[in-house]
Amino acid sequence: MKGIVLAGGSGTRMFPLTKSVSKQLLGVYDKPAIFYPLSILMLADVREIALIVNPHEKQAFIDLLGDGSQYGIKINYFVQSEPRGIADAYNVVKNYIEGESSMMILGDNFFYGYELPKRIRKAIENNKGATVFAMQVKEPKRFGVLDIKDPNLPPRGIVEKPAHPPSNWAVTGLYIFDKDVTKYVNELQPSTRGELEITELIDIYLKKQNLKVEYLGRGTAWLDTGTPDGMLSCASFVKTVEERQGFKIACLEEISYRRGFMTLDQITSQVKKYPNCSYRDYILQVLEAT
Ligand code: TTP
Repeated sequence: MKGIVLAGGSGTRMFPLTKSVSKQLLGVYDKPAIFYPLSILMLADVREIALIVNPHEKQAFIDLLGDGSQYGIKINYFVQSEPRGIADAYNVVKNYIEGESSMMILGDNFFYGYELPKRIRKAIENNKGATVFAMQVKEPKRFGVLDIKDPNLPPRGIVEKPAHPPSNWAVTGLYIFDKDVTKYVNELQPSTRGELEITELIDIYLKKQNLKVEYLGRGTAWLDTGTPDGMLSCASFVKTVEERQGFKIACLEEISYRRGFMTLDQITSQVKKYPNCSYRDYILQVLEAT
């Protein structure tokens, strides 16, 4: 199973914040936004990851994440020359994932919830064609929406940003696709906004009756960091949870250790080289307590 983090895009809604910096590199409370989606792949035990970035932002991502070895993962960088849509990710990483299933997450998505990692790992195990994760939202018009009456039955369709949403179940930015995805992406035509739409790719699986929907309940938080308001809400959420519990959300070193990607000694000697800061103190304290 390969992982993909889609961290290109135009970032129009964040201008001028995104004039010189990718929105995925901006801070969300105490860490860069990209840590949150990356942590979800790591929690799902996906350790071989393609990071798709804009050409002029590649070096900044490398400066931050390197080859991933400091987290016990392997990151390969791919450049998307223009933001041609979310489904276009599969054109970019075609050779990388050839013959394998993949889990893709959008670089501006945030997920948090009780037993969510376990649920995602199970979904990977059980995936046949494609699996999407759906959540109920107040404003379905802003999202790809499932046409469903009864979550026990397969969805009747999926529509992108519908004027009249058939339900309030939005498709989130986390997807599992089997190896055939690179073939299906060739069947897509750019939409009126000039993008290869992820909803159309999902629709191919749906029509082949090869789509599974994981309905996430109200105990899951799904936020996005792609607008100034979204980013601030997400930062407040992280601060609130972290302050109350004393545990950090999306601390990649902690996840690496807890999932057994790296040993106690490896993590400790690495983290001791970090500058004196609360992030370093936190990791050392977590490691000591285990
Ligand atoms: P969006 O937020 O839909 O688009 P965007 O990043 O271009 O931002 P804006 O609408 O404000 O101009 O993108 C969702 C995620 O997918 C985000 O993390 C960026 C990424 N993305 C790409 O990497 N390539 C693309 O071609 C597109 C459209 C998005």
